[in-house]
Amino acid sequence: MSKHHAATIAARAGIAQDPAYGAVTPPLYLTSTYELPAFKQPGPYDYSRSNNPTRDLLAEALAELEGGAKAIVTNTGMSACLLALQLLTPDDTLVIPHDCYGGSYRLFTNLATRKKAFKLLIVNFQQADWAAQITAARPKMIWLETPSNPLLQITDVRAVCQLAQPLQALVVVDNTFLSPVLQQPLALGADIVVHSTTKFINGHSDIVGGVLVCACAQLGDELKWWANCLGLTGAPFDSYMTLRGLRTLEPRLRLQQDNTAKIVEFLSRQPLVSKVYYPGLVQHPGHAIAKAQQSGFGAMCSFDLAVEQALLPVFFEALQLFTLAQSLGGIESLICHPGTMTHASMDAKAQQTAGIGPTLIRLSVGIENLDDLLADLQQAFNALASALRQHADNAKPAAAKADSALNSPQFRLNPALSALW
Ligand SMILES: Cc1ncc(COP(=O)(O)O)c(C=O)c1O
Repeated sequence: MSKHHAATIAARAGIAQDPAYGAVTPPLYLTSTYELPAFKQPGPYDYSRSNNPTRDLLAEALAELEGGAKAIVTNTGMSACLLALQLLTPDDTLVIPHDCYGGSYRLFTNLATRKKAFKLLIVNFQQADWAAQITAARPKMIWLETPSNPLLQITDVRAVCQLAQPLQALVVVDNTFLSPVLQQPLALGADIVVHSTTKFINGHSDIVGGVLVCACAQLGDELKWWANCLGLTGAPFDSYMTLRGLRTLEPRLRLQQDNTAKIVEFLSRQPLVSKVYYPGLVQHPGHAIAKAQQSGFGAMCSFDLAVEQALLPVFFEALQLFTLAQSLGGIESLICHPGTMTHASMDAKAQQTAGIGPTLIRLSVGIENLDDLLADLQQAFNALASALRQHADNAKPAAAKADSALNSPQFRLNPALSALW
Protein backbone atom coordinates (compact mmCIF):
# COMPACT_ATOMS: atom_id res chain seq x y z
CA MET A 1 0.00 0.00 0.00
CA SER A 2 1.49 3.33 -1.05
CA LYS A 3 1.93 6.06 1.55
CA HIS A 4 1.04 8.73 -1.02
CA HIS A 5 -2.27 9.95 -2.37
CA ALA A 6 -3.36 9.06 -5.91
CA ALA A 7 -2.72 12.62 -7.16
CA THR A 8 0.89 12.42 -5.96
CA ILE A 9 1.53 8.92 -7.34
CA ALA A 10 0.09 9.94 -10.71
CA ALA A 11 1.92 13.30 -10.90
CA ARG A 12 5.27 11.66 -10.03
CA ALA A 13 4.86 8.68 -12.37
CA GLY A 14 8.34 7.96 -13.77
CA ILE A 15 9.70 11.36 -12.63
CA ALA A 16 13.39 11.75 -11.66
CA GLN A 17 14.28 8.09 -12.04
CA ASP A 18 16.66 8.24 -15.01
CA PRO A 19 19.82 6.32 -14.08
CA ALA A 20 21.75 7.49 -17.18
CA TYR A 21 21.61 11.33 -17.12
CA GLY A 22 19.27 12.27 -14.29
CA ALA A 23 16.53 13.38 -16.69
CA VAL A 24 13.52 14.55 -14.68
CA THR A 25 11.10 13.41 -17.37
CA PRO A 26 11.93 9.83 -18.27
CA PRO A 27 13.26 9.11 -21.76
CA LEU A 28 11.30 7.10 -24.29
CA TYR A 29 13.10 3.85 -25.11
CA LEU A 30 12.18 3.26 -28.74
CA THR A 31 14.31 0.17 -29.10
CA SER A 32 13.15 -3.28 -30.01
CA THR A 33 16.29 -5.00 -28.72
CA TYR A 34 19.15 -4.54 -26.23
CA GLU A 35 22.85 -5.33 -26.38
CA LEU A 36 24.02 -8.17 -24.19
CA PRO A 37 26.81 -7.07 -21.76
CA ALA A 38 28.76 -10.15 -22.91
CA PHE A 39 28.20 -13.53 -24.52
CA LYS A 40 25.73 -15.60 -22.45
CA GLN A 41 25.33 -12.67 -20.03
CA PRO A 42 21.80 -11.28 -20.17
CA GLY A 43 21.25 -7.66 -19.17
CA PRO A 44 18.10 -6.38 -17.41
CA TYR A 45 16.38 -6.03 -20.81
CA ASP A 46 16.68 -8.15 -23.93
CA TYR A 47 13.68 -7.62 -26.25
CA SER A 48 10.88 -5.04 -26.08
CA ARG A 49 7.99 -7.47 -26.54
CA SER A 50 9.08 -8.99 -23.22
CA ASN A 51 10.28 -5.91 -21.37
CA ASN A 52 10.78 -2.23 -22.03
CA PRO A 53 11.89 0.45 -19.52
CA THR A 54 9.25 3.00 -20.61
CA ARG A 55 6.46 0.42 -20.37
CA ASP A 56 7.82 -0.74 -17.00
CA LEU A 57 7.55 2.79 -15.57
CA LEU A 58 3.89 2.91 -16.60
CA ALA A 59 3.22 -0.55 -15.17
CA GLU A 60 4.85 0.39 -11.85
CA ALA A 61 2.78 3.59 -11.56
CA LEU A 62 -0.48 1.80 -12.38
CA ALA A 63 0.26 -1.04 -9.94
CA GLU A 64 0.90 1.53 -7.21
CA LEU A 65 -2.26 3.50 -8.04
CA GLU A 66 -4.43 0.36 -7.93
CA GLY A 67 -2.62 -1.00 -4.84
CA GLY A 68 -1.58 -4.15 -6.73
CA ALA A 69 1.52 -6.33 -6.72
CA LYS A 70 2.06 -6.34 -10.48
CA ALA A 71 0.71 -4.63 -13.61
CA ILE A 72 0.96 -5.78 -17.21
CA VAL A 73 0.58 -3.02 -19.80
CA THR A 74 -1.09 -4.21 -23.00
CA ASN A 75 -1.60 -2.71 -26.44
CA THR A 76 -5.39 -2.20 -26.09
CA GLY A 77 -8.06 -2.56 -23.44
CA MET A 78 -9.39 -5.57 -25.34
CA SER A 79 -5.99 -7.28 -25.21
CA ALA A 80 -5.98 -6.74 -21.43
CA CYS A 81 -9.38 -8.52 -21.32
CA LEU A 82 -8.07 -11.30 -23.57
CA LEU A 83 -5.01 -11.68 -21.36
CA ALA A 84 -7.09 -12.22 -18.22
CA LEU A 85 -9.07 -14.92 -20.06
CA GLN A 86 -5.85 -16.96 -20.52
CA LEU A 87 -6.43 -18.13 -16.93
CA LEU A 88 -9.46 -20.16 -18.12
CA THR A 89 -9.68 -23.62 -19.70
CA PRO A 90 -12.64 -25.11 -21.64
CA ASP A 91 -14.01 -26.75 -18.46
CA ASP A 92 -14.07 -23.48 -16.52
CA THR A 93 -17.08 -21.20 -16.23
CA LEU A 94 -16.81 -17.46 -16.68
CA VAL A 95 -19.55 -15.26 -15.22
CA ILE A 96 -20.11 -11.95 -16.98
CA PRO A 97 -22.61 -9.17 -16.35
CA HIS A 98 -25.50 -8.79 -18.79
CA ASP A 99 -24.55 -5.16 -19.35
CA CYS A 100 -20.96 -4.34 -20.14
CA TYR A 101 -18.91 -2.76 -22.90
CA GLY A 102 -20.11 -4.21 -26.23
CA GLY A 103 -16.59 -5.22 -27.30
CA SER A 104 -16.04 -7.16 -24.06
CA TYR A 105 -19.42 -8.83 -24.51
CA ARG A 106 -18.47 -9.80 -28.08
CA LEU A 107 -15.13 -11.23 -26.89
CA PHE A 108 -16.69 -13.31 -24.11
CA THR A 109 -19.59 -14.65 -26.14
CA ASN A 110 -17.55 -15.47 -29.27
CA LEU A 111 -14.72 -17.15 -27.37
CA ALA A 112 -17.30 -19.22 -25.49
CA THR A 113 -19.50 -20.19 -28.44
CA ARG A 114 -17.14 -20.28 -31.43
CA LYS A 115 -13.89 -21.35 -29.72
CA LYS A 116 -15.32 -23.25 -26.74
CA ALA A 117 -12.60 -21.51 -24.72
CA PHE A 118 -14.75 -21.63 -21.54
CA LYS A 119 -18.36 -21.96 -20.42
CA LEU A 120 -20.27 -18.74 -20.04
CA LEU A 121 -22.93 -17.61 -17.60
CA ILE A 122 -24.48 -14.18 -18.15
CA VAL A 123 -25.82 -12.77 -14.89
CA ASN A 124 -27.91 -9.72 -14.15
CA PHE A 125 -26.24 -8.43 -10.98
CA GLN A 126 -29.16 -6.07 -10.44
CA GLN A 127 -31.51 -9.00 -9.76
CA ALA A 128 -31.87 -10.64 -6.35
CA ASP A 129 -30.85 -14.14 -7.51
CA TRP A 130 -27.34 -13.24 -8.76
CA ALA A 131 -25.61 -14.92 -5.82
CA ALA A 132 -27.64 -18.13 -6.15
CA GLN A 133 -26.90 -18.31 -9.88
CA ILE A 134 -23.17 -17.90 -9.32
CA THR A 135 -23.02 -20.37 -6.46
CA ALA A 136 -24.76 -23.00 -8.59
CA ALA A 137 -22.37 -22.42 -11.52
CA ARG A 138 -19.17 -22.67 -9.42
CA PRO A 139 -17.26 -20.38 -11.79
CA LYS A 140 -13.49 -20.02 -12.08
CA MET A 141 -13.79 -16.32 -12.86
CA ILE A 142 -16.36 -13.57 -12.23
CA TRP A 143 -16.13 -10.50 -14.44
CA LEU A 144 -17.53 -7.20 -13.22
CA GLU A 145 -17.82 -3.82 -14.84
CA THR A 146 -18.91 -1.19 -12.36
CA PRO A 147 -20.14 1.39 -13.20
CA SER A 148 -21.22 -0.43 -16.35
CA ASN A 149 -21.01 0.86 -19.89
CA PRO A 150 -23.33 2.55 -20.91
CA LEU A 151 -26.02 2.42 -18.19
CA LEU A 152 -23.81 3.16 -15.19
CA GLN A 153 -25.21 0.25 -13.19
CA ILE A 154 -23.39 -0.46 -9.96
CA THR A 155 -22.33 -3.86 -8.65
CA ASP A 156 -21.34 -4.41 -5.04
CA VAL A 157 -17.71 -5.51 -5.51
CA ARG A 158 -17.23 -6.46 -1.84
CA ALA A 159 -20.33 -8.68 -1.84
CA VAL A 160 -19.25 -10.46 -5.02
CA CYS A 161 -15.73 -11.01 -3.64
CA GLN A 162 -17.14 -12.45 -0.41
CA LEU A 163 -19.20 -14.91 -2.44
CA ALA A 164 -16.26 -15.72 -4.72
CA GLN A 165 -13.75 -16.52 -2.00
CA PRO A 166 -15.15 -19.86 -0.76
CA LEU A 167 -15.86 -20.81 -4.40
CA GLN A 168 -12.19 -20.06 -5.20
CA ALA A 169 -13.35 -17.92 -8.09
CA LEU A 170 -11.18 -15.06 -9.32
CA VAL A 171 -12.89 -11.66 -9.43
CA VAL A 172 -11.88 -9.35 -12.28
CA VAL A 173 -13.14 -5.77 -12.27
CA ASP A 174 -13.12 -3.51 -15.33
CA ASN A 175 -12.38 -0.15 -13.69
CA THR A 176 -12.22 1.85 -16.92
CA PHE A 177 -15.15 4.16 -16.08
CA LEU A 178 -13.66 5.43 -12.82
CA SER A 179 -9.87 4.93 -12.85
CA PRO A 180 -7.96 4.16 -9.63
CA VAL A 181 -8.50 7.73 -8.50
CA LEU A 182 -12.20 7.03 -7.87
CA GLN A 183 -12.30 3.27 -7.22
CA GLN A 184 -9.75 0.66 -6.16
CA PRO A 185 -11.32 -2.77 -6.68
CA LEU A 186 -8.32 -4.68 -5.22
CA ALA A 187 -8.93 -2.99 -1.86
CA LEU A 188 -12.53 -4.25 -2.07
CA GLY A 189 -11.28 -7.85 -2.48
CA ALA A 190 -10.91 -8.26 -6.26
CA ASP A 191 -8.02 -10.26 -7.72
CA ILE A 192 -7.47 -8.42 -10.99
CA VAL A 193 -8.30 -4.94 -12.28
CA VAL A 194 -8.67 -4.23 -16.00
CA HIS A 195 -8.46 -0.85 -17.69
CA SER A 196 -8.78 0.43 -21.16
CA THR A 197 -6.02 3.03 -20.61
CA THR A 198 -7.28 4.55 -23.86
CA LYS A 199 -9.84 6.29 -21.64
CA PHE A 200 -9.37 8.29 -18.41
CA ILE A 201 -5.86 7.01 -17.62
CA ASN A 202 -4.35 8.45 -20.79
CA GLY A 203 -7.07 11.08 -20.98
CA HIS A 204 -6.18 12.72 -24.31
CA SER A 205 -7.74 10.38 -26.90
CA ASP A 206 -4.42 9.94 -28.70
CA ILE A 207 -3.45 6.31 -28.05
CA VAL A 208 -5.13 2.95 -27.42
CA GLY A 209 -3.89 0.80 -24.56
CA GLY A 210 -4.79 -1.40 -21.64
CA VAL A 211 -3.55 -2.76 -18.36
CA LEU A 212 -4.17 -5.64 -15.98
CA VAL A 213 -3.25 -5.09 -12.34
CA CYS A 214 -3.02 -8.17 -10.12
CA ALA A 215 -3.32 -8.29 -6.35
CA CYS A 216 -0.97 -11.26 -6.22
CA ALA A 217 2.54 -11.22 -7.75
CA GLN A 218 2.36 -14.91 -8.72
CA LEU A 219 -0.78 -14.35 -10.80
CA GLY A 220 0.89 -11.26 -12.26
CA ASP A 221 3.95 -13.32 -13.27
CA GLU A 222 1.74 -15.90 -14.99
CA LEU A 223 -0.14 -13.20 -16.90
CA LYS A 224 3.08 -11.44 -17.81
CA TRP A 225 4.33 -14.73 -19.25
CA TRP A 226 1.16 -15.00 -21.37
CA ALA A 227 1.41 -11.35 -22.48
CA ASN A 228 4.91 -11.99 -23.82
CA CYS A 229 3.95 -15.37 -25.29
CA LEU A 230 0.92 -13.96 -27.13
CA GLY A 231 2.54 -10.62 -28.00
CA LEU A 232 -0.06 -8.50 -26.21
CA THR A 233 2.30 -6.03 -24.53
CA GLY A 234 1.93 -2.27 -25.04
CA ALA A 235 4.11 -0.23 -27.40
CA PRO A 236 6.83 1.96 -25.82
CA PHE A 237 5.57 5.13 -27.52
CA ASP A 238 2.01 4.52 -26.33
CA SER A 239 3.36 3.80 -22.84
CA TYR A 240 5.24 7.12 -22.90
CA MET A 241 2.12 9.00 -23.95
CA THR A 242 0.05 7.23 -21.28
CA LEU A 243 2.61 8.06 -18.58
CA ARG A 244 2.41 11.70 -19.67
CA GLY A 245 -1.39 11.67 -19.59
CA LEU A 246 -1.50 9.79 -16.29
CA ARG A 247 0.32 12.59 -14.44
CA THR A 248 -2.75 14.85 -14.66
CA LEU A 249 -5.33 12.13 -14.06
CA GLU A 250 -6.53 13.40 -10.68
CA PRO A 251 -7.12 17.10 -11.54
CA ARG A 252 -8.57 16.19 -14.95
CA LEU A 253 -11.02 13.77 -13.44
CA ARG A 254 -11.97 16.15 -10.63
CA LEU A 255 -12.89 18.84 -13.16
CA GLN A 256 -14.65 16.39 -15.49
CA GLN A 257 -16.62 15.01 -12.55
CA ASP A 258 -17.64 18.48 -11.33
CA ASN A 259 -18.86 19.33 -14.84
CA THR A 260 -20.74 16.02 -15.03
CA ALA A 261 -22.60 16.58 -11.75
CA LYS A 262 -23.87 19.94 -13.04
CA ILE A 263 -24.78 18.51 -16.44
CA VAL A 264 -26.71 15.70 -14.74
CA GLU A 265 -28.67 18.32 -12.76
CA PHE A 266 -29.40 20.16 -16.01
CA LEU A 267 -30.47 16.97 -17.83
CA SER A 268 -32.74 15.99 -14.94
CA ARG A 269 -34.72 19.23 -15.50
CA GLN A 270 -35.09 18.77 -19.26
CA PRO A 271 -38.63 17.97 -20.46
CA LEU A 272 -37.21 16.09 -23.46
CA VAL A 273 -35.20 13.72 -21.24
CA SER A 274 -37.18 10.77 -19.91
CA LYS A 275 -34.45 9.23 -17.74
CA VAL A 276 -30.95 10.12 -16.53
CA TYR A 277 -28.45 7.43 -15.57
CA TYR A 278 -25.83 8.62 -13.09
CA PRO A 279 -24.87 6.89 -9.82
CA GLY A 280 -24.56 10.26 -8.09
CA LEU A 281 -28.35 10.70 -8.24
CA VAL A 282 -29.96 9.63 -4.95
CA GLN A 283 -32.71 7.83 -6.85
CA HIS A 284 -30.14 5.74 -8.81
CA PRO A 285 -30.60 2.13 -7.59
CA GLY A 286 -26.85 1.75 -7.03
CA HIS A 287 -26.34 5.13 -5.33
CA ALA A 288 -25.66 3.80 -1.81
CA ILE A 289 -23.22 1.13 -3.00
CA ALA A 290 -21.48 3.61 -5.30
CA LYS A 291 -21.13 6.00 -2.37
CA ALA A 292 -19.61 3.26 -0.25
CA GLN A 293 -17.18 1.75 -2.75
CA GLN A 294 -16.25 4.75 -4.91
CA SER A 295 -14.66 8.05 -3.96
CA GLY A 296 -16.62 9.93 -6.61
CA PHE A 297 -19.38 9.30 -9.12
CA GLY A 298 -17.27 9.85 -12.22
CA ALA A 299 -17.53 11.78 -15.46
CA MET A 300 -19.83 9.52 -17.47
CA CYS A 301 -23.59 9.84 -17.67
CA SER A 302 -26.32 8.58 -19.96
CA PHE A 303 -29.89 9.62 -20.66
CA ASP A 304 -32.91 8.62 -22.71
CA LEU A 305 -34.31 11.27 -25.02
CA ALA A 306 -38.11 11.38 -25.00
CA VAL A 307 -38.38 11.62 -28.79
CA GLU A 308 -38.52 9.23 -31.70
CA GLN A 309 -35.18 7.81 -32.78
CA ALA A 310 -35.63 9.51 -36.15
CA LEU A 311 -35.14 12.90 -34.46
CA LEU A 312 -31.76 12.03 -32.90
CA PRO A 313 -29.77 13.60 -35.78
CA VAL A 314 -31.36 16.98 -35.01
CA PHE A 315 -29.86 16.82 -31.52
CA PHE A 316 -26.46 15.51 -32.60
CA GLU A 317 -26.18 18.00 -35.45
CA ALA A 318 -27.01 20.98 -33.24
CA LEU A 319 -24.25 20.22 -30.73
CA GLN A 320 -20.99 22.09 -31.21
CA LEU A 321 -19.01 21.10 -28.13
CA PHE A 322 -19.99 17.44 -27.73
CA THR A 323 -18.33 15.51 -30.53
CA LEU A 324 -20.23 12.50 -31.87
CA ALA A 325 -17.57 9.81 -31.45
CA GLN A 326 -16.74 6.42 -29.94
CA SER A 327 -14.64 6.29 -26.77
CA LEU A 328 -14.66 8.24 -23.53
CA GLY A 329 -12.51 9.65 -20.77
CA GLY A 330 -10.60 12.29 -22.76
CA ILE A 331 -10.40 15.95 -21.82
CA GLU A 332 -12.82 16.74 -24.67
CA SER A 333 -16.55 16.13 -24.33
CA LEU A 334 -17.93 13.32 -26.46
CA ILE A 335 -21.45 12.14 -27.17
CA CYS A 336 -22.39 8.72 -28.42
CA HIS A 337 -25.40 6.62 -29.35
CA PRO A 338 -24.52 3.27 -27.73
CA GLY A 339 -27.10 1.29 -29.73
CA THR A 340 -25.40 2.01 -33.06
CA MET A 341 -21.88 2.81 -31.87
CA THR A 342 -20.11 1.38 -28.80
CA HIS A 343 -22.62 -1.45 -28.34
CA ALA A 344 -23.34 -2.23 -32.00
CA SER A 345 -21.63 -5.60 -31.53
CA MET A 346 -24.47 -6.65 -29.16
CA ASP A 347 -27.48 -7.96 -31.08
CA ALA A 348 -30.88 -6.29 -30.65
CA LYS A 349 -32.02 -8.83 -28.05
CA ALA A 350 -28.85 -8.47 -25.96
CA GLN A 351 -29.19 -4.68 -26.12
CA GLN A 352 -32.80 -4.91 -25.03
CA THR A 353 -31.89 -7.27 -22.15
CA ALA A 354 -29.14 -4.89 -21.10
CA GLY A 355 -31.61 -1.95 -21.17
CA ILE A 356 -29.97 -0.12 -24.07
CA GLY A 357 -32.91 1.64 -25.71
CA PRO A 358 -33.09 3.27 -29.16
CA THR A 359 -32.80 6.82 -27.82
CA LEU A 360 -30.16 6.18 -25.16
CA ILE A 361 -27.38 8.76 -25.33
CA ARG A 362 -24.05 8.55 -23.47
CA LEU A 363 -21.93 11.55 -22.55
CA SER A 364 -18.26 11.58 -21.66
CA VAL A 365 -17.84 14.99 -20.10
CA GLY A 366 -14.61 16.89 -20.63
CA ILE A 367 -12.83 19.82 -19.01
CA GLU A 368 -14.36 22.58 -21.12
CA ASN A 369 -15.97 25.54 -19.36
CA LEU A 370 -19.18 24.35 -17.71
CA ASP A 371 -21.32 27.30 -18.87
CA ASP A 372 -20.25 26.68 -22.46
CA LEU A 373 -21.16 23.00 -22.19
CA LEU A 374 -24.56 23.78 -20.65
CA ALA A 375 -25.30 26.44 -23.29
CA ASP A 376 -24.40 23.96 -26.02
CA LEU A 377 -26.76 21.33 -24.62
CA GLN A 378 -29.50 23.93 -24.13
CA GLN A 379 -29.39 25.08 -27.77
CA ALA A 380 -29.46 21.43 -28.93
CA PHE A 381 -32.57 20.81 -26.78
CA ASN A 382 -34.09 23.98 -28.26
CA ALA A 383 -33.41 22.66 -31.76
CA LEU A 384 -34.99 19.35 -30.82
CA ALA A 385 -38.05 21.08 -29.33
CA SER A 386 -38.55 23.12 -32.48
CA ALA A 387 -38.16 19.99 -34.67
CA LEU A 388 -40.81 18.33 -32.51
CA ARG A 389 -43.17 21.29 -32.93
CA GLN A 390 -42.65 21.14 -36.68
CA HIS A 391 -43.30 17.40 -36.50
CA ALA A 392 -46.59 18.04 -34.69
CA ASP A 393 -47.60 20.80 -37.16
CA ASN A 394 -46.89 18.79 -40.22
CA ALA A 395 -46.27 15.21 -39.15
CA LYS A 396 -45.47 13.60 -42.46
CA PRO A 397 -42.94 15.97 -44.02
CA ALA A 398 -41.18 16.45 -40.68
CA ALA A 399 -40.81 12.71 -40.18
CA ALA A 400 -39.56 12.32 -43.72
CA LYS A 401 -37.05 15.11 -43.14
CA ALA A 402 -35.84 13.53 -39.92
CA ASP A 403 -35.56 10.16 -41.65
CA SER A 404 -33.51 11.70 -44.38
CA ALA A 405 -31.32 13.42 -41.77
CA LEU A 406 -30.70 10.06 -40.10
CA ASN A 407 -29.65 8.68 -43.45
CA SER A 408 -27.56 11.69 -44.44
CA PRO A 409 -23.90 10.80 -45.04
CA GLN A 410 -22.94 12.62 -41.83
CA PHE A 411 -24.95 10.24 -39.66
CA ARG A 412 -24.89 7.06 -41.69
CA LEU A 413 -22.45 4.89 -39.80
CA ASN A 414 -20.16 2.92 -42.06
CA PRO A 415 -21.69 -0.58 -42.23
CA ALA A 416 -18.30 -2.06 -43.11
CA LEU A 417 -16.90 -0.71 -39.84
CA SER A 418 -19.89 -1.54 -37.66
CA ALA A 419 -18.73 -5.16 -37.48
CA LEU A 420 -15.58 -3.92 -35.74
CA TRP A 421 -17.12 -1.67 -33.10
C1 LIG B 1 -15.38 -0.47 -20.11
C2 LIG B 1 -14.47 -0.80 -21.26
N1 LIG B 1 -13.65 -1.85 -21.18
C3 LIG B 1 -12.82 -2.17 -22.20
C4 LIG B 1 -12.80 -1.44 -23.36
C5 LIG B 1 -11.89 -1.84 -24.51
O1 LIG B 1 -10.81 -0.96 -24.59
P1 LIG B 1 -10.00 -0.60 -25.94
O2 LIG B 1 -10.94 0.11 -26.84
O3 LIG B 1 -8.86 0.23 -25.44
O4 LIG B 1 -9.54 -1.89 -26.53
C6 LIG B 1 -13.65 -0.33 -23.49
C7 LIG B 1 -13.67 0.47 -24.73
O5 LIG B 1 -14.50 1.32 -24.94
C8 LIG B 1 -14.50 -0.01 -22.41
O6 LIG B 1 -15.36 1.04 -22.48
